[in-house]
Formats: sequence, C-alpha cells, structure tokens
Amino acid sequence: MMIDRIEALLKDVEKFKAESLDEIESFRIQLLGKKGKITDLFKDFKTVPNDQKREVGQKINLLKNAAADKIEAIKQKLSASREVTIGNDLSLPGEPKNLGSRHPISLVRNEISEIFNRIGFIISEGPEIEDDWHVFSALNFPEEHPARDMQDTFFIEKNPDILLRTHTSSVQVRVMDHQKPPIRTLSPGRVFRNEAISARAHCIFHQVEGLYIDKDVSFADLKQTLLYFAKEFFGEQAEIRLRPSYFPFTEPSAEVDVSCSLCGGKGCNVCKYTGWLEILGCGMVDPNVLESSGIDSKIYSGYAFGMGIERIAMLKYGIKDLRLFFENDQRFLEQFSGNY
Ligand code: PHE
Repeated sequence: MMIDRIEALLKDVEKFKAESLDEIESFRIQLLGKKGKITDLFKDFKTVPNDQKREVGQKINLLKNAAADKIEAIKQKLSASREVTIGNDLSLPGEPKNLGSRHPISLVRNEISEIFNRIGFIISEGPEIEDDWHVFSALNFPEEHPARDMQDTFFIEKNPDILLRTHTSSVQVRVMDHQKPPIRTLSPGRVFRNEAISARAHCIFHQVEGLYIDKDVSFADLKQTLLYFAKEFFGEQAEIRLRPSYFPFTEPSAEVDVSCSLCGGKGCNVCKYTGWLEILGCGMVDPNVLESSGIDSKIYSGYAFGMGIERIAMLKYGIKDLRLFFENDQRFLEQFSGNY
C-alpha cells in the first residue's frame, strides 16, 4: 500500500512541469508542505510493519530528494530564461560606462597651444631620439662647453652622438632648416633629463617651446607676446617680470615670472612669499643659431621661449607633487574629467 503511494508520487514528480514560480510553489506545498503528500507518508511511516520499515524508509527518502531536486531544477530553468528576456528588454535603462578623461598634461598643452595658435603660431613636432647637432651644436652649445651640463643628458651608450632630446628646441632647428622666415612655430613634446625623481623633478617631462623669426623682431615683441600669454592663461590680473639669465641659444636671455595667482602677488607659501612664480625661459635668438640653419642674421632676428608643462599645470591646478602626473592613479585622473 505504502509502496504504491510512493511509486505513484514518484511518477508525479517525474512528470511535473511548470511555467511559473507560483506553479512550482503550489506543487511544493502539495508534496512537502505541512499537509503535503510526502509529509503524510512520513507520518504514516509508524504503521509500516517492522520488516518493511527499512525498504519503505529508503524509498520515502528517495522520493523526498527527487521532489526537492526537481523543484530546484525547474526553478533554475525558469530564472535562466527570465534573464534572457531581461537581456532583450530594450526599454530597460542602459548600464553607464565610465568614460576616460584627458590627462592634465594634455589639457594644459592644448590650452597653451590654442593661445599661441590665435596669434599665428603653428605646431611643429620632431623625434624624441635626436642627434647632438639638433639638440646642442646647432643651438650654439660649443663642444665640451659647460653649458651642456645645464641639461643632464641621456646618451645612447654605443653612439654618444645619439641622445634623448633634453628640450624641444631641437624641433625648431629642424623647422629653421626646412622653412624660410617668417617662422612662427610652437613645439610641444616630451623631453628627457637625467634627474633624480622627486616632487619637483622627473627624468621625463613635457615642454612647449616657441620660436618667431622675421625682419625687425624685437625684445619688446617678445615681452608683449609673453604678457599676452600670461593674461590669457592665468587671467587678466596676471603681470610678468623678466630677470636676466643665460641660455647658449639666446642673447639676451631672460627668465620670466608671473605674479602669483594664488595670493595675487601678496606672498604665500606657493610663491615662497615673493609674490612671483617662475614659468619660462626666453630670449632673442642668438645670431649663431640663425646662421647655422642658413638664415641671414643681418636681415632676420627672432625670439624664442620655452616652458615646462608640468610646472604650469601644477600652478594651474594647485598640484604639489609632479610624480602624480606619471602614476596614472585613477583617483587623480578622474578629477580632470569633463575638461577638454
Ligand atoms: N630650451 C630651454 C630649456 O629647455 C628653454 C628656452 C627656450 C630658453 C627658448 C630660452 C629660449 O631650458
């Protein structure tokens, strides 16, 4: 009797099909609920004669497991097919994808380039692996001259004539070699110097260098152009001051400071209480430089300037450690998203 009931229920379990979770649940209650048919079997188990208890007990357990397994299997099948339908539902909102953002160095490079583009400077680019001529000799660095030590250089061991450029002035030598004045060019790019890495220096950094050559270019033109740049970049209130300096390729040469935009020139810890921040080097192109590129220095004159993008970006965004630009830490980079 008991065995027949078990067999019949086993068949029911095998045949069972369902289209919804509700159907599964009512089937479960019918069999395994408090008043379910399998639960009843367990209750009636005490009436089974002792010599059959072993066989019947095993069968009831088998039935119970089969029912539970079947219910679970159908549930899984249903939820898998539900996922497919959800996947195809075009009315559901999309998953947001985080877009990358421009690197602050690129942002500042682009901004500087735009400011100079507006007054006719055209971008020029050149190789990062250069030869001695374009980086030093053509720029009036005599061989063995201590001025070469101003820029601690990475040389290629097998051929010391080949080196990593220490400034993008090398690109301007290439422009002068191939173009006739008037020349107005701006060379942004990566440069390399053998410097210990710290919060203020790195062995790789970025520069923008400018060159203007024409008839009658004067120091006043240079000064006015740099003032225009400072006001466009740092704001209308910006002032500049020039201090005499030395570069082999310019004469006279100057170092340019901009009034500290953080304290408005009153003095703060960023400008070391001077009210001024050094931003670039500049000067009138040395006649020797013009002549080495075949430009007649009696007819033409020119000015040049160069600045480090990292330094300008640090001032613009108040960044205290230059190494942050090279670490690609997303928490740092994300702060520049939305800027183009
Ligand atoms: N090339 C110089 C440097 O890297 C900067 C500079 C450019 C100075 C042009 C004067 C004129 O330090």
